Amino acid sequence: MKSGQLELFSRHPEKYIHTIIQGAFEKLAESHHLSHPTPFPHFELETKEIATFGDFSTNAPFLYAPLFKKSPLEIAQEISISIQQSLSSEFKEYIHIEVAGGGFLNFFITPSGWARIAQKLSSPAPRKRFFKKKIIIEFSSPNIAKPMSIGHLRATILGNALVHLYNHMGYKTIAWNHLGDWGTQFGKLLVAYKKWGDHTVIEKDPITELQKLYVRFHEEAKDDPSLEDEARKEFNDLEKGHSANRRIWKYIVDQSLKEFQRMYAALDVRFDYIIGESFYESRLTPFIQKLLRSGKATTSDGATIVSLDSYHLPPGLIQKSDGATLYLTRDLVSLLYRARKIHPVRMLYIVGNEQSLHFQQLQAINSILKLTTIPFEHVSFGMVLNSLGKKFSTRKGDIVTADEVFTEVLAHAKDTQKEKQTNQSNTQLDQTAQTVSSGVIKYSMLRSNRTSNISFDFDSLFSLSGNSFPYLQYTYARVMSILAKAPRQNTARAYNQLTKTDYELMRSLVRFEAAIEASASSQSLHHLAEYLFTLANNINTLYEKSHILSDSNVATRSARIQLLTTAARTIRYGLGILGITVQEKM
Ligand code: ARG
Repeated sequence: MKSGQLELFSRHPEKYIHTIIQGAFEKLAESHHLSHPTPFPHFELETKEIATFGDFSTNAPFLYAPLFKKSPLEIAQEISISIQQSLSSEFKEYIHIEVAGGGFLNFFITPSGWARIAQKLSSPAPRKRFFKKKIIIEFSSPNIAKPMSIGHLRATILGNALVHLYNHMGYKTIAWNHLGDWGTQFGKLLVAYKKWGDHTVIEKDPITELQKLYVRFHEEAKDDPSLEDEARKEFNDLEKGHSANRRIWKYIVDQSLKEFQRMYAALDVRFDYIIGESFYESRLTPFIQKLLRSGKATTSDGATIVSLDSYHLPPGLIQKSDGATLYLTRDLVSLLYRARKIHPVRMLYIVGNEQSLHFQQLQAINSILKLTTIPFEHVSFGMVLNSLGKKFSTRKGDIVTADEVFTEVLAHAKDTQKEKQTNQSNTQLDQTAQTVSSGVIKYSMLRSNRTSNISFDFDSLFSLSGNSFPYLQYTYARVMSILAKAPRQNTARAYNQLTKTDYELMRSLVRFEAAIEASASSQSLHHLAEYLFTLANNINTLYEKSHILSDSNVATRSARIQLLTTAARTIRYGLGILGITVQEKM
């Protein structure tokens, strides 16, 4: 029993403290003859950034004072006394409690408590795997015949990081890409391709040329509405398997995929499945027929719809009167396909918040049709804006593509590399610049709350201070260079003479899993990014305030080196979850 508690305290001090507070509340409730559910109702234990308020703190007395008909201060004092009485003498040496601010309970870990924790401190590692816990994470899902947008780039980076996060937590992740390769717009593209396309030009830069053709279609269709009819016919032929149309479409898919794969390689992103919307084509008609037979869909003016009045949503359009199916139809069939093929415990869709109505409809229709009982969520995210808070556009006025962002950041990274005059070869420099660029872009997109819009400001991307990848990279390389100089001796480590700055660093180190939890429950990596930033700050403060390699006390020096080693590994591992590779040297 006691050793179990020690183990809990050493590995997860916050969990241990949470249990003793809970126990004290339960006892108090009993002595007041209050019936309460066990464990005692929920309260939060906060990790304090500033140690003057304790290492951990809770406002639980404020929450539950009314239950006991006492003031928060009285409850806090009673709880504090009760905890002190129940602590064994060993734990009394490790934990110190204070009542503050009219009813807060602040917990301080003493130096001997930290020394205890330090002995068990280990570098982060993946949790135990549960192979039955499969999770499908759909992300990126760009549209063919168009360049990948900066919004798709955010989806790609966020989804990839969530894959790493859930892998760490022991899930079997399935990275899914729902390529936009089907729909009436391809009828338009086919018309334009056949009328104005010049293959020798297209071949040189397919995506740009196809994009131009698509724009031209819309311009010409303003004056000649018959083009729209032609487009419908072309798409119809494509659906029926018309060989010329299939061939052109296949060419477009292949060229687009090639482009996307280049971007995925640069970002070090992999998928288990890349399944375009076209894949579901043959399943659509049977699905719609079954739907009609079930009586849950109705026809209105020749179109098939599912009424969503009871959900206060506009009706879900399943099939248009001309027979065309929709984005929504393919998502319904794909949902069913994913559920049956993979049998996951959960499915996530990492898609921008402008599609939230679409996903609300998908949820509502699924509830009506009962396609699957496996929970699925739209993990939405905000827009990427320029530094002025406006929609991103180039000088020509079009939306900035993922490629343009990468090119710009890469150019900057190369300049910075060259200025450094290292003795790396040119290919090595290019390689480094690639890795750094991808880290810079990823970090700048992950450090903000998922749901907020982010402003992407090229000028500030490379700033060495503040919550940025270059700052973390710099900190990591700095620690590594110190560690490289540290003597390799197996001296005993002494944690009893460390300083406040060392404990601050330890406070960060024990919080790694809490940061993971916060990121997982909000599906937002900014908690992890902020955690890494605080950790880096604590490393740098330690570096500035203490003699790391020159400490005359060998055992203390050895202990500190151990802490810094764990800190460096935590930075590397944490960045790894964000999908970022850190360089050993700068
Ligand atoms: N291709 C779509 C777009 O770019 C995103 C697809 C999102 N995923 C989904 N299952 N609907 O707008």
